[in-house]
Amino acid sequence: MTYKGKFRVWRGDGEGGELQDYEVDVNEGEVVLDVIHRLQATQTPDLAVRWNCKAGKCGSCSAEINGKPKLMCMCRMNTFEEGETVTVTPMRTFPVIRDLVTDVSFNYTKAREIPSFTPPADLKPGEYRMQQVDVERSQEFRKCIECFLCQDTCHVIRDHEENKESFSGPRFLMRIAELDMHPLDAADRQHEAQDQHGLGFCNITKCCTEVCPEHIKITDNALIPMKERVADRKYDPIVWLGNKIRRR
Ligand code: SF4
Ligand code: F3S
Ligand code: FES
Repeated sequence: MTYKGKFRVWRGDGEGGELQDYEVDVNEGEVVLDVIHRLQATQTPDLAVRWNCKAGKCGSCSAEINGKPKLMCMCRMNTFEEGETVTVTPMRTFPVIRDLVTDVSFNYTKAREIPSFTPPADLKPGEYRMQQVDVERSQEFRKCIECFLCQDTCHVIRDHEENKESFSGPRFLMRIAELDMHPLDAADRQHEAQDQHGLGFCNITKCCTEVCPEHIKITDNALIPMKERVADRKYDPIVWLGNKIRRR
């Protein structure tokens, strides 16, 4: 069954733009990205949209659909009424390049600032040993497809451009938490998370967790445990005394 769908799509570039209305065919079983592609093929050949796998795995087609951060390829058209207008806008937290395509290089910069896995100096590759339970603990975080929808939705940077310098966002705080959970990682991830990546800015609203297409429990399983470890260390009397003595 085909019907004429009403679409409102943001068109423009870094200088400015506006929402434009279109009527476009929608077929049974389609997702928003199918309809955007049909729009491109039939009415707006210059419409810019980033995508790759159309299977929810590459993390490229992130956008906001009726104001909610989503993957366009995983958003089914049958979740809308036939007469309903579907509004598609680019991710708000990142600068627009053109139409639905944003510049997500903020995320690459933050990723580069995190030192990679740091094994103890006295172990050589091949001598690393860890328990299966520790392997499994971080598997959840490894499902991340880097769609940056969590980064887009977190109010700390969504509404406050000025926080971008000091806050790396849920995706990268989760990466630090993952490394901190690794039994062989010797780097000081707790200071790093707090001092360089702004863990303290997170007030556990859990919006990041809500939008994650991989259903990773970012807040409960990565950010809150990381906050607890930072707090334990700060308020542990032995650590406190050690820090005092070191500062003298
Ligand atoms: Fe996307 Fe989830 Fe990874 Fe965030 S944690 S980048 S929402 S897959
Ligand atoms: Fe932001 Fe997620 Fe914390 S939305 S405030 S990083 S719980
Ligand atoms: Fe790859 Fe949507 S096109 S996640």
